[in-house]
Amino acid sequence: MKNKRLISPSFLSANFLHLEKDIEMINKSEADWFHLDIMDGVFVPNISFGMPIIKQINKLAKKPLDVHLMIVDPDKYINDFKEAGADILTVHYEACRHLHRTLQSIKLAGMKTGVSLNPHTSVDLLEDVIQDIDVVLIMSVNPGFGGQNFIENTYAKVRKLKKIITEKNSNTLIEIDGGVNLQNAEKLFEAGADVLVAGSAVFKSENPTKTISLLKNE
Ligand code: DX5
Ligand code: ZN
Repeated sequence: MKNKRLISPSFLSANFLHLEKDIEMINKSEADWFHLDIMDGVFVPNISFGMPIIKQINKLAKKPLDVHLMIVDPDKYINDFKEAGADILTVHYEACRHLHRTLQSIKLAGMKTGVSLNPHTSVDLLEDVIQDIDVVLIMSVNPGFGGQNFIENTYAKVRKLKKIITEKNSNTLIEIDGGVNLQNAEKLFEAGADVLVAGSAVFKSENPTKTISLLKNE
C-alpha cells in the first residue's frame, strides 16, 4: 500500500497565549491532524497540559485530535480523553501492562488506537497486536520535550515495522515523533512513514503554514 503523507503539528511548541491563532492557522494549513502531547511528570520528566486544554482546542479544531499520552496507567482516563475530544488515542507500549486490553478499551470508547514506542523499544514487540493498532507512533527522540535531536536509528525501525505491517496485511499507519524537520521529512516518508509530527520545526519557523506545506510535499 502506498503510504500517506500526513502532517500532525505538535501543540507543545505552540504559543499558549494565542492558542486560538495557532489553531486557526492549522485549520487553514495543509496539516492533517492536531498532535497533543499529554505528560504526567512520572512516565516522562515533564508535565504538559490536560483535559481542559484539549476541550478548548476541540471547540475550534476542524481536523482530528491526535492525542499522545506520555502517562502511566492510561487505562484510567480513556473515557475522559474521548469526552475531551480525542479522535486518535496513543498510549505508550512501556506504560501498558495489558496492551491488548487497553487497545480494546480505546476502540470500545470509539477512538482510533495508537501505540507509541520509545527509542529503545523494538518494533518486533508489536507483531502480535498489529492488527489492533491504527497508528504506531515511533519516538525519534526520548519523550518529554520538544526541540531535541532526531535519532538516526529511526529509519531502520520504520523499514522493519513497514515489513511487519505488510506481512500481516494490516492497515496500520506509521507516525514519527521527535526532531522531524525539513531535512529528514522526505527520507522518513521514503522509508515508509505515513504521518510526521513536527513541533518546533513548524511553530518556531518564520512561516508555519509554508513549513507544513514543505514538510508534506517536498
Ligand atoms: C516529545 C513529544 C513531541 C514533541 C515534538 O515528547 O512527543 O510530540 O512535541 O517536538 P519536536 O518536533 O520539536 O521534536
Ligand atoms: Zn508527541
